[in-house]
Amino acid sequence: MRIEQSGQICGATVHGVDLSAELTPQMVTDIRSAWLKHRVLAFADQSMSDDDLERFTLAMGGFGDDPFFDPIPGRENIAAILREADEASPLFAENWHSDWSFLERPPAGTCLMAIDIPPIGGDTLFADQISAFAALPEERKDHLRSLTAIHSARGAYAPDGAYGEDDEGRSMAIRPDESAMATQKHPLVQRHPENGEEALFSCVGYIIGIEGMEDAEAFSFLMELAAWQSDDRFIYRHKWQPDMLVLWDNRSVLHKATGGYEGHRRELHRTTIAAAA
Ligand code: SIN
Repeated sequence: MRIEQSGQICGATVHGVDLSAELTPQMVTDIRSAWLKHRVLAFADQSMSDDDLERFTLAMGGFGDDPFFDPIPGRENIAAILREADEASPLFAENWHSDWSFLERPPAGTCLMAIDIPPIGGDTLFADQISAFAALPEERKDHLRSLTAIHSARGAYAPDGAYGEDDEGRSMAIRPDESAMATQKHPLVQRHPENGEEALFSCVGYIIGIEGMEDAEAFSFLMELAAWQSDDRFIYRHKWQPDMLVLWDNRSVLHKATGGYEGHRRELHRTTIAAAA
């Protein structure tokens, strides 16, 4: 196995591994430690099936919950991130987020497997939140450590949310629900459970407030923080290729989808990796 760093703030490509075959325990250990170090791993030239994707996800930590998506037919734990060539609905996942951060135990990671990759555009952006936190002045770090964020899926998946009942013409199997109104508190700064590093755990996609702060103040605070979190110096831009699998760590990066592939179909199969026990 050979790891090639992206040359950006994080991200690496793994060579010399065939993910359509059973991984040895040593390979699983090596891939997991590269994942924790580089935060985003890409595996190029893979010829994987959905069975292979499931087996890989189990090896990396097991399946996490996937609320608000219907799985693809015949599978319980694989969802399709899909946009048809003629689709006009707003892009899915265009805001910075950490997957399902509104859950009590958000998933450790996410796998995305290329099914249909457009010839242009459709990059996924990652923002390194360990580096973004580390680069802050000490006083600012202390203040952020003292704050608790209120997460919710309501803006996205409630019946009146962005992917709610009025979101017509979308090809993805999104299942909006009243349960999206629930809230969940998480510290704004979290220590990574596996590598011990501190990271900002804040995203405009799913945070609706800060405990003890007026809404207007919290909104401008979060917007200012979001600008820092997504500063160019913290970004890894991932360019997709056919037959590629990408694995990222939701505890140390935020991510967002980008467009630029109008007139082309894009499909990826996604699994989430459960929080570490
Ligand atoms: C996602 O947030 O799961 C999708 C990212 C992408 O489509 O690039």
